Amino acid sequence: MITCVRGTRDILPDEIHLWHLVERESAAIFDRYGFEELRLPIFEVTELFARGIGDTTDIVEKEMYTFTDRNDQSLTLRPEGTASLVRAYIQHQLYKDGGTRKLYYAGPMFRYERPQKGRYRQFYQIGAEVLGPDSPGVEAEVIDMLMLLMDRLGIGDTRLWINSIGCPACRPAFLAVLQEREQAAAGRLCADCVRRIAANPLRVLDCKNPDCQDTINSLPSILDYLCAPCRSHHERLKKHLGLLGIAYHENPRMVRGLDYYVKTTFEITSGALGAQNSLLGGGRYDGLVEQLGGPPTHGFGFALGLDRFVLALPEAVRAGSRPVPDVHLAPLGETAQELAQVVAARLRRAGFAVSQDFQDRSLKSHLRHANRLGVPRVVIIGDAEAEAGQAALKSLITGDQILVPLTELEAVLRQQPAEKE
Ligand code: HAM
Repeated sequence: MITCVRGTRDILPDEIHLWHLVERESAAIFDRYGFEELRLPIFEVTELFARGIGDTTDIVEKEMYTFTDRNDQSLTLRPEGTASLVRAYIQHQLYKDGGTRKLYYAGPMFRYERPQKGRYRQFYQIGAEVLGPDSPGVEAEVIDMLMLLMDRLGIGDTRLWINSIGCPACRPAFLAVLQEREQAAAGRLCADCVRRIAANPLRVLDCKNPDCQDTINSLPSILDYLCAPCRSHHERLKKHLGLLGIAYHENPRMVRGLDYYVKTTFEITSGALGAQNSLLGGGRYDGLVEQLGGPPTHGFGFALGLDRFVLALPEAVRAGSRPVPDVHLAPLGETAQELAQVVAARLRRAGFAVSQDFQDRSLKSHLRHANRLGVPRVVIIGDAEAEAGQAALKSLITGDQILVPLTELEAVLRQQPAEKE
């Protein structure tokens, strides 16, 4: 048997309605905040990610699916969406009207990580980016949008973590101090950390190895090294969050795994997830557009993990979101089958979701089938009723049954909307 590749999975019909729910709610909420969708390619030239995400990040160093095509061009399955979106923003000069662009994208991303619950090699993100403004107000607006989305989806037990990782004016001084302190503590850090001290000292703060935690906790905090503009930006963000009544936790160790960030970074974690508890993450990336060849442009955004959102949906939402047909047609006999097909076509055109299967079932089997689907009403058509142009409409909720002329079926169904189970 050929199975899907490790770290990838099939999303089966049993679960897909939960994905549709998150996708639908996200699109509706993003729309309210003025975001427009963009569809981006799944692979890009490798250089885009090497330059955009950073050569010394885990993603670029060891997690990319890179291959050469028949033309010997190095291509990479996108590990994230921000670099692609910025590439498109520059390529199509989406900046030329001036002002702010609010854009979002959704789709599969690919990282060669060790698969476990909530962590896959093909996973799905929905991301949104605001290009143009520098204001912390924009950051609070985006975070507010995420709070509303999670609220609509019933996702609770979450925590918002914020940090500022400074800017090219203040970060180098911090990095120098940090590197020095890390070097002095190298004997108490893991091999990965030691390797990172020289290449990317900030990454050491991100290490998850339990043996490193005490040492990392004793390292200096970036918040003590911010320049005046970064400090003021950070304070204003906190003020805006306060105005919106959004609770947050500061985490000076949260540096995130991508090199393009400046100033604000943030993450939302969920207590409903296991070890992979990050529901979404994002931050500000003011230099990225320029670095990829565009005009100087501020940028801020996030990506949410769709796989993890689906995992975090509460039971009540899961149970209530499965689509159920409005009515099941139960024809008994061949003439009734033919008639039922015509009735089904008519009802579907009138907007009803109708289930009809073409197996020769007994009435009992039809009712069992309808109950399993959770359908509230069954239209029973026997050959005799078919001759008379009638059907029996049975409510599976109350058990009531009435005879209805087929010509009036649509109107009766509309008049007596049945509560679905
Ligand atoms: P990221 O933190 O790498 O950020 O990913 C964002 C979210 O994608 C994570 O919080 C998680 O929910 C989900 N995710 C990441 N890796 C996996 C995986 N292997 N399996 C399942 N879910 C995963 C970014 O990708 C940035 N582009 C976010 C951003 C947008 N920053 C600014 N704009």
